[in-house]
Amino acid sequence: ASAAPRYVIGFSQCTMNDAWRQAMLVGMKKELSFYPNVTFRLKDAHDNTALQQRQIREFLKEKVDLLIVSANEAEPITPLVEEAFNRGIPVVILDRRTTSQLYTAYVGGNNQEVGRAAGRYIGSLLKGKGKILEVLGAAGASPARDRHKGLLQALHSFPQVQVVGEVQGNWQRPSVLAALPAVLRLHPDVQLIFAHNDRMALGAYQVCKQLGLAKKVHVVGVDGLAGPQGGLQLVQDSILTATLLYSPGGEEAIRTAMKILHNEPYDKENMLSTMVIDSTNVLTMKMQTEKLASQQGDIQRQQELLENQRHTFVSQQRGLYILGAA
Ligand code: FRU
Repeated sequence: ASAAPRYVIGFSQCTMNDAWRQAMLVGMKKELSFYPNVTFRLKDAHDNTALQQRQIREFLKEKVDLLIVSANEAEPITPLVEEAFNRGIPVVILDRRTTSQLYTAYVGGNNQEVGRAAGRYIGSLLKGKGKILEVLGAAGASPARDRHKGLLQALHSFPQVQVVGEVQGNWQRPSVLAALPAVLRLHPDVQLIFAHNDRMALGAYQVCKQLGLAKKVHVVGVDGLAGPQGGLQLVQDSILTATLLYSPGGEEAIRTAMKILHNEPYDKENMLSTMVIDSTNVLTMKMQTEKLASQQGDIQRQQELLENQRHTFVSQQRGLYILGAA
């Protein structure tokens, strides 16, 4: 059999500074373990758009076979993705989009639908009437724009639910701790805060608690990660009323990339589904993710066992060969 062709995949990641991005990388590595002929290079832009632009230029110079991009800010990253695409390098956009159609495939959640699902849930939780605050992700990032848009769309059906204030949370908890107190003091009668991710939602809860509002104000987030500080745990501990599942999509991104590299049919838009997780279903969700994690552990152990057996087999064969030659 001829050796499989070697490929280099470059991943321009907007940041690695949170558990959600780390879960994404774990998923990618798991899928990459099936393709030993692929070299995977990650460049972390540390939430810095100018750095991400330079890193994509470096990838172009290094002549990668395929580029995966999660754009820190949509507009300024667009021309670089277009350049890669126009040079014939396939580009998979992962989670944070650019503003043009010049890319090979998208993998990630439908963020407008995330916002709409949140809006529908909030509308019925508040029985169609109430005041809410929105804590936004970074202004230039497509998920923040789309989640905001979707929320307002869904709230059209609940004309008596009003968004009375906004906080720029920049995806980070510290920004919320700094900016939310002043807004909450202006609107002490809000019933709910919708934050564009669970880290900011946790910050919102902490601010409410400081101001003695934690019992009165619902907090809803996005992501629904497993793990100690993850959204599932926060919902189970009643810190968040709900979270909207938003999968990191690492496995799916690599799977799509490999289809493209192998010239197999693929979809341009690969939407990962969302759902509301609240007290009614959080235990089921946790049990399922834990079961998945333990099955993945089993698979890894089996792979290691197979690998060991292969080594033993190869050395035994060598032994036989030497005996035969004697
Ligand atoms: C992680 C993150 C998630 C959020 C996503 C949006 O870096 O901030 O919390 O859902 O990015 O792109």
